[in-house]
Amino acid sequence: MEQELTSFSKEEIEVETDRLFVSLGKLGWTREDCEIIAPLTLEINQLKKEKNAIILAHSYQRPQIVFGIADFVGDSYGLSKAAMEADADTIVFCGVKFMAETAKILNPNKTVILPNLEAGCSLADSITAEDVLRLKEQYPGVPVVCYVNTSAEVKAVCDVCVTSSNAEKIVNNLPGDTVIFIPDYHMGRNLAESTGKKIILWNGKCIVHDEFTEQHVKEVRQTYPDVTIMAHAECDPSVVSLVDLVVGTQGMINYIKEHGTGTYMLVTECGLADRLQVEFPESKFVGTCMLCPYMKKITLKNTLDALKNPSAEQIIDLDPETIERAKRSLEQMFVVEKGPVSAF
Ligand code: 13P
Ligand code: SF4
Repeated sequence: MEQELTSFSKEEIEVETDRLFVSLGKLGWTREDCEIIAPLTLEINQLKKEKNAIILAHSYQRPQIVFGIADFVGDSYGLSKAAMEADADTIVFCGVKFMAETAKILNPNKTVILPNLEAGCSLADSITAEDVLRLKEQYPGVPVVCYVNTSAEVKAVCDVCVTSSNAEKIVNNLPGDTVIFIPDYHMGRNLAESTGKKIILWNGKCIVHDEFTEQHVKEVRQTYPDVTIMAHAECDPSVVSLVDLVVGTQGMINYIKEHGTGTYMLVTECGLADRLQVEFPESKFVGTCMLCPYMKKITLKNTLDALKNPSAEQIIDLDPETIERAKRSLEQMFVVEKGPVSAF
């Protein structure tokens, strides 16, 4: 439990504890647990106002971040949009490095802070810009589709970015019947199946979604015959073939919003089920989930420290040329998701 010496009054702590308990109580936190973190969330929320900062958080973040301090919680796509629309001077990114870099690319004039530089991603780490240039040489003229889980340098040498929420649409909207898709091997194979296109693959994997097996899904299906099972598109196609819906995290949320109370298995990182258990308390979330060690590197304490006095490493710094070129790939995403393009 994160704790710190406090300068807030007893009444302020009590009000904040009540606020936190409304959501975190639904996840089994006690009032005492909430009271321990109340000084931290109070100080972070106060500093946000003083510094004209906002906090963007991915749904996989710890519940005390999602419900205690975040101004916007979402998937990679929603977070990119929120970063683009933000009018604060500073964006504190409670997520992983490629997400904070994306916020910086879309907002080069703002200060973007990542509270812990160890918040990486196995997919982003699986490929370099040089690897992409070699692929382009090998397959001249084939569009390079880049999953958003990549470094800024990799985005800078690709043609169009995608997120889990628009990858299928974008691959379908591209001209020709072949694309290079980097770096997620499983997602690339899932896209080959859903779009019927030839996908040239890279061997990157998400260490979280790669852990799920057919057994995990079969066991839940047997125990809960009425369950709706949704898998993230980063899962192995053998797992995907057994589920009811293959989507990204926002796709899962949208489905539950549309279909209402039910029993759900979310084949993804545990943070999402935590978030949804609070937001949809009547629904039941069952089965195994997995923790992303990178996402969990962000804590209330390192967020507070970064907001108070960010170190040079916590401030995202990209060279202007990389920003310019990576921005093109992200902007292409917003264009190609709208409809088919004839040339690329
Ligand atoms: P989305 O939330 O965009 O579906 O991405 C999942 C993920 O693994 C991000 O790291
Ligand atoms: Fe990367 Fe997977 Fe963690 Fe997302 S869940 S940040 S894809 S390792």
